Amino acid sequence: MAGLKIRLLLIVSIFLSVVNAGKTVFIDPHDPWQVFEGWGTSLCWWANAFGGFPDVVRNQAADLVFDFNKGLGLNVIRYNIGGGDNPSHHHMRIGGDVPGFRPCNNCDYNWTSDANQRWILFAAKDRGADVFEAFSNSPPYWMTYSNCSSGGRNSTNNLNPSYYDAYADYLTEVVKWYKEQEITFRTLEPFNEPTTGLWHELGLLNTTTVSFADEGLFEGEIATISAIDTFDAFNKNVKLYVSQYNTHAYSGIQRSLLHLIAKQNGKRLWMSEWGSWSSKNMSASIKLSEEILKDMRKLKPVAWVYWQIIEHAPNGNDGNDYGLIGADFSNSTIPLDIRLSFYGFAQYTKFIRPGYQIISSNDDDTLAAQDASNKTLVLVCTNKNNAPDTWSINVSKFNISSFNVYRTSNDNETLKLLPNTWSITNGILIYESPANSITTLVFNVTQ
Ligand SMILES: *[C@@H]1O[C@H](CO)[C@@H](O)[C@H](O)[C@H]1NC(C)=O
Ligand SMILES: *[C@@H]1O[C@H](CO)[C@@H](O)[C@H](O)[C@H]1NC(C)=O
Ligand SMILES: *[C@@H]1O[C@H](CO)[C@@H](O)[C@H](O)[C@H]1NC(C)=O
Ligand SMILES: *[C@@H]1O[C@H](CO)[C@@H](O)[C@H](O)[C@H]1NC(C)=O
Ligand SMILES: *[C@@H]1O[C@H](CO)[C@@H](O)[C@H](O)[C@H]1NC(C)=O
Ligand SMILES: *[C@@H]1O[C@H](CO)[C@@H](O)[C@H](O)[C@H]1NC(C)=O
Ligand SMILES: *[C@@H]1O[C@H](CO)[C@@H](O)[C@H](O)[C@H]1NC(C)=O
Ligand SMILES: *[C@@H]1O[C@H](CO)[C@@H](O)[C@H](O)[C@H]1NC(C)=O
Ligand SMILES: *[C@@H]1O[C@H](CO)[C@@H](O)[C@H](O)[C@H]1NC(C)=O
Ligand SMILES: *[C@@H]1O[C@H](CO)[C@@H](O)[C@H](O)[C@H]1NC(C)=O
Repeated sequence: MAGLKIRLLLIVSIFLSVVNAGKTVFIDPHDPWQVFEGWGTSLCWWANAFGGFPDVVRNQAADLVFDFNKGLGLNVIRYNIGGGDNPSHHHMRIGGDVPGFRPCNNCDYNWTSDANQRWILFAAKDRGADVFEAFSNSPPYWMTYSNCSSGGRNSTNNLNPSYYDAYADYLTEVVKWYKEQEITFRTLEPFNEPTTGLWHELGLLNTTTVSFADEGLFEGEIATISAIDTFDAFNKNVKLYVSQYNTHAYSGIQRSLLHLIAKQNGKRLWMSEWGSWSSKNMSASIKLSEEILKDMRKLKPVAWVYWQIIEHAPNGNDGNDYGLIGADFSNSTIPLDIRLSFYGFAQYTKFIRPGYQIISSNDDDTLAAQDASNKTLVLVCTNKNNAPDTWSINVSKFNISSFNVYRTSNDNETLKLLPNTWSITNGILIYESPANSITTLVFNVTQ
């Protein structure tokens, strides 16, 4: 009886597992989406702290973030042109007080300023970073109404109009100086999350064009704070000066519309900032992955840039910061806390590389890409459910000679290369994905 019961149960569960056979995914090489130029990070505010740490510590951080073999291999860098705060103010978060280059209206530029962030900038370049954008959160404090570079007392324009030209000069002088130091900022983004719609045409250098608007939302209930409305607000002449649309991805759903607007205007599109809370388990990785999937599949940006890759978390991982790595910005001897979400991000950044063609996959939890020579196919598959799932992946359009499987999960798997126990039958790979996991499949394709 017992034996029969077990057999019946087995039959029922096999039947159920067939009925629930997870999802089927079809990968289509003949439906190309965006050609990707890279994964990135802002240097705020961690570089201002880490660049001043002892060599061994700052090199470790730079390796983890920018080096392809030792870390994430991020190649897109957003350098923050600091305004420099009022010397009598001391209210910014640690690292947040990014030094400016001109301490007063009549002062000369001081090019020894901001040495910490600059060290990280060059460390990134040395490790292969090759796309650089400069952006600004505030003009120098002395150009503002509030006499402070952390913003105005209210949400109106804080830049005194009599300094509009001086501010434009300030930004372009910094970009020009860096060009002489052999860092060419391809784009200059003069405002971060501008809610006022005020923008001024700049006299620009040949090698650097303007990107805007770095709004926090795609679209919004508040008309003035959405990327879509901000792009609409600028007239045709202003748009001519702009090569790139930047959007943050914190809120909103109109990704496809924004993609279309950028395409119609002939502008390069970036997801220039997103970040979310850390956690000890996979929840932060799954959230990160879901954001990447939504953005890469619908917004289709050519670069995807994280905010605050390393965060000040002196009391360990309490889930109150955005860092993929936790650190103590005030104490370089505290070991770096490499979170699970660091590996969650690595599941993408180490495999879908600059120059890869993102291609169609008919499943919201999958991102597919192939390299320029079509010899490598990469699939990043996320199981966001609290239960295992069976994926039936149709790769019949590819002539696959071998493949590797890497996974990050709650089960102590951190970008783990798994023993390959799977096979492809008639173009179909059946893959059992554990609960709350991210899997990267890397296929060698023969032509
Ligand atoms: C702005 O701050 C500077 C430095 O603390 C001070 O000298 C100056 O008087 C302030 N200006 C105004 C208008 O408050
Ligand atoms: C220039 O900046 C450096 C670094 O902050 C500082 O030590 C130096 O005093 C500044 N020079 C002048 C002339 O202000
Ligand atoms: C708000 O900003 C405007 C300038 O844009 C200024 O005239 C006004 O006094 C500010 N209000 C407060 C309360 O600071
Ligand atoms: C820079 O721009 C100016 C004005 O448009 C143009 O005359 C010049 O040839 C450009 N220089 C380079 C190096 O492209
Ligand atoms: C994962 O961690 C978050 C906080 O970081 C917590 O809210 C959540 O309950 C945890 N999930 C599980 C399954 O333990
Ligand atoms: C830095 O951390 C180390 C190790 O915990 C500790 O011994 C030291 O006192 C700390 N330094 C400061 C300045 O807090
Ligand atoms: C790669 O595949 C795509 C789609 O089949 C094709 O359009 C492209 O020409 C191929 N590229 C190379 C280098 O073979
Ligand atoms: C795999 O996809 C191809 C191309 O669309 C299709 O012909 C084939 O039937 C699919 N295989 C399965 C098992 O669904
Ligand atoms: C993960 O590894 C740690 C340390 O080796 C161990 O204590 C923990 O039980 C492991 N967790 C799982 C789910 O295997
Ligand atoms: C598929 O690859 C094999 C080598 O692994 C090769 O012999 C065969 O010709 C290829 N088929 C196609 C259709 O390219």
